Amino acid sequence: MRIPSRKRCERLGARGGNSHRTATSIQWRRTFPQKRKQLTMSKPRVFVTRKIPAAGLDRVLAACDADVWPDPLPPPHEVLLQRVAGCEGVLTLLTDKVDVEFFEAAGPQLRVVSNFAVGCNNIDVGEATRRGIRVGNTPDVLTDATADMAFALLICAARRIVEGQDFVRRAQWKTWEPLGHVGADLIGRTIGIVGMGRIGYAMATRCRGGWGMQVLYHDQCASEKAEQFLLARRVDLDTLLSQADFVSVHADLNDTTRGMFNAEAFRKMKPTAIFVNTARGLLHVAADLYQALRQGWIFAAGLDVTDPEPIPMDDPLLTLPNCVIAPHIASATVSSRNGMADIAADNLLAGLQGQPLRCWVNPL
Ligand code: DGY
Repeated sequence: MRIPSRKRCERLGARGGNSHRTATSIQWRRTFPQKRKQLTMSKPRVFVTRKIPAAGLDRVLAACDADVWPDPLPPPHEVLLQRVAGCEGVLTLLTDKVDVEFFEAAGPQLRVVSNFAVGCNNIDVGEATRRGIRVGNTPDVLTDATADMAFALLICAARRIVEGQDFVRRAQWKTWEPLGHVGADLIGRTIGIVGMGRIGYAMATRCRGGWGMQVLYHDQCASEKAEQFLLARRVDLDTLLSQADFVSVHADLNDTTRGMFNAEAFRKMKPTAIFVNTARGLLHVAADLYQALRQGWIFAAGLDVTDPEPIPMDDPLLTLPNCVIAPHIASATVSSRNGMADIAADNLLAGLQGQPLRCWVNPL
């Protein structure tokens, strides 16, 4: 995730610096250190692994004895393990690994892990469930923003927009070229959606409603809604790969989906196809995608996610003009990030009270 500038933070409502520790409260703590201890003892201890928008953070600060990691980069894993020790709740990001080691370090009093993301592949949810720890996530509020991003990447890759911008900035633009910068048409083509959940459906809606595309989808469950309203057709993966003009992946990352877009899959796609991934970088095999783009097995790709993140500057994908890469920003809109903060705070506070979570990944 990009580090928000001060201006963006203000717009998002996040507080800058350590301003949640107000001058009055600091003064009060200096004067009455024991009272402060008594006071905070009644509040649950939580660790918040990064500053999140005030839409959620303010309520966490008001209700909890909260330790908020102040840096723009995530806490190193060893530091995370130290900071969660003794906490009853932790508000995590997708960059924090929540595994057995984490749960052991936190201790048996840990009641809730509230993830500031819809995807929970950073969390060992099975282990949390075995330990009776509630896990929350932040769906819905980022659906449109993520589908918009998927479509933006599709159109950027199809119309070679980033390549065009680089051309301009390198002072290579000499004239209007009848044969130059020719990209792919979108109208009336076929979109293949892998994972017809909320975001897949929202992407398919844009493709169908705005660009009149046929919709193919691959999912373990049928989507009556997509079939009824978008005339979508559920097909096996091979059919989707071979028939779709564009393939957009919206699947969860798990043991069955990890690496599903590999050399074999890219070879089944059309040489004119465009691959879009706004879900998780590990769904595609980066080295195979590089070959597919370099050798012309497919036309282009648009990625909001990579493996690892951030993508190393010597990654060969960065050398390709037909690969558009954004820094995992699909949910980075004001309403999505505020909505995520609101749900993440609700989940945390509900979990601390032993209540059902607003968005509960592992109902216990
Ligand atoms: C998520 O929520 O899982 C996204 O990847 C980040 O918003």
